[in-house]
Amino acid sequence: MAEARAAKQKVRQRKKESVRVLITAGRIQRRIHALAKEIRRDFPGERLHLVSVLKGGVFFLTDLARSIPGEVSFDFIAVASYGQNTHSSGQVRLTRDLDSSIEGRTVIVVEDILDTGMTLQYLLRLFQQRKPKHLRVAVLLDKPERRIAAVRADYVGFTIPNEFVVGYGLDYSERYRNLSYVGILTLGSAAKAENKE
Ligand code: IMP
Ligand code: MG
Repeated sequence: MAEARAAKQKVRQRKKESVRVLITAGRIQRRIHALAKEIRRDFPGERLHLVSVLKGGVFFLTDLARSIPGEVSFDFIAVASYGQNTHSSGQVRLTRDLDSSIEGRTVIVVEDILDTGMTLQYLLRLFQQRKPKHLRVAVLLDKPERRIAAVRADYVGFTIPNEFVVGYGLDYSERYRNLSYVGILTLGSAAKAENKE
């Protein structure tokens, strides 16, 4: 009955997890509104093609898209970079490509968080080869302390400290994405020990 024991262990760990609010839903919405205005100001009268990274960037994309005045289209890409825990593997792999060509388009990459920068570095290389007219990056959160790759975002929602955050698209093992705010996740001691392995 090893399976039953493992399931019980999982439930115990979840009970020890807690989330502390870092950025309220209201602040997120106000900031996105300001970013949308800024983006439109930089590219007046152009169709903006927003490209988001599944699944974390989806909430940011839908709110941003609705706040940008004028013509907007969007598409999605998916990459695998993180495992089941809070540690980055540092490896990025394309798991779903865009539906349409970005050649000649004004493309804004919309990401949930800029952490080590490995994902963004990979995407920017890939997209640059496809000859967009402009290529810009918008991230809701930026964790500059963790940066490994030499990349930067053109539009940043919030700069945050080196903490593992969840909510507003960001997950821990696929949970917490549906929170309307961003919070700092604290794991129970058992889960922490497990993640160090
Ligand atoms: P990178 O390390 O900049 O390549 O970030 C890769 C991905 O890791 C992000 O798009 C997120 O999906 C995930 N990630 C990085 N930091 C966090 C975090 O604090 N919470 C949840 N996911 C994160
Ligand atoms: Mg992501």
